[in-house]
Amino acid sequence: MAASKEQVLAALAMVGTPDGRPLPDTGALSDIVVSDGKVFFSISVDAAAVKAWEPVRKAAEEAVRTAPGVQSAMVALTAERAAGAAAPRAPQPAAGARSAPRAAHPADQGQPGVPGVEAVIAVASGKGGVGKSTTAVNLALGLRDLGLKVGMLDADIYGPSLPKLLAITEKPQTIGGTKLKPIERYGLTVMSIGFLIDEDTPMIWRGPMVMSAITQMLREVEWGKLDIMVVDMPPGTGDAQLTMAQQVPLKGAVIVSTPQDLALIDARRGVAMFKRVNVPVLGLVENMSYFLCPHCGERSDIFGYGGAHKEADRLGVPFLGEVPLHMTIREKSDSGLPVVATEPDGPHAKIYRDIAAKVWEQIKPGAAGGRTAPKIVIEA
Ligand SMILES: Nc1ncnc2c1ncn2[C@@H]1O[C@H](COP(=O)(O)OP(=O)(O)OP(=O)(O)O)[C@@H](O)[C@H]1O
Ligand SMILES: [Mg+2]
Repeated sequence: MAASKEQVLAALAMVGTPDGRPLPDTGALSDIVVSDGKVFFSISVDAAAVKAWEPVRKAAEEAVRTAPGVQSAMVALTAERAAGAAAPRAPQPAAGARSAPRAAHPADQGQPGVPGVEAVIAVASGKGGVGKSTTAVNLALGLRDLGLKVGMLDADIYGPSLPKLLAITEKPQTIGGTKLKPIERYGLTVMSIGFLIDEDTPMIWRGPMVMSAITQMLREVEWGKLDIMVVDMPPGTGDAQLTMAQQVPLKGAVIVSTPQDLALIDARRGVAMFKRVNVPVLGLVENMSYFLCPHCGERSDIFGYGGAHKEADRLGVPFLGEVPLHMTIREKSDSGLPVVATEPDGPHAKIYRDIAAKVWEQIKPGAAGGRTAPKIVIEA
């Protein structure tokens, strides 16, 4: 029989806290999501108390795992800011400054990578809806076609896309009651918060909670040996994205943009964000670059042409390629049949494979890595 919320709460009543009160009485628990034997919730505590509460998080996870009907439990520890305290921020460039101070990237401080994973790269965009997830999936498949073992992490906690783009409905199993086993699809090893939570569950995630869930998906999932992990980032360049860019041990970032001026301004912000945290920008992809008529094959540059290429040159980052706006890409993508996997001989798959090759060239073992400082420093 599947577990109920009441059973989970009963198990948590046995967990002590630094407050001296049982966990359910502390007011620190979020809503508890129980779905099909999978349990997920967060504990929100003051940022200063996080260390003291980490054992509580672990104990809570263990207590819930042993409750009847529970298959797996994932508990996130959320660092709440004390009321009135300022949000920790990365240094901001002074207005008009020619060079921005750089926040040290955790990788520079010996931040541990993900065990067994050689390289982690992010696919990001300044703006939503530009085709970031579609690009991430097909790029991952392009890397797979280079003979690499590839993983994908859906870091878009607000709107996870991978369950849909890869048509995954099954729930991950746990291994030995401690780690989650990722899902395999098209040869990719995949994890998304969307696998654990029903699509209709309202999710009001706050920044710190997002971070904690990401960290857990990186470290408490049995990724196995991977040459590369592709992270589908949430859109935007706000605090949450900046923190994520700092916390995930990234070897590089790919920025996706559409050709319109407004999208390019957002792409520029994306480039600036990664440079600020010392993550090399591996390049810009122009998505929905031109319209290819599915009937006559005629090409129309409906948004203007070449904007992203020019922008990449201006920013001193590589231009990785142009992906057309095409019905096939949309239909296949939205029905969980990504073109690189299902139409490997078609023209679109080739474009994505070429992009993948340009990305891998820069991060493969022995590649120069760590690009030089940007020619132009942009104010985000
Ligand atoms: N090159 C393309 N041609 C046609 N349709 C595309 C193309 N790229 C993406 N799409 C479609 O555009 C929509 C948005 O794409 P996608 O979900 O990949 O964007 P996103 O940037 O990840 O969005 P979000 O900001 O919501 O995460 C989807 O319906 C997708 O199928
Ligand atoms: Mg997306």
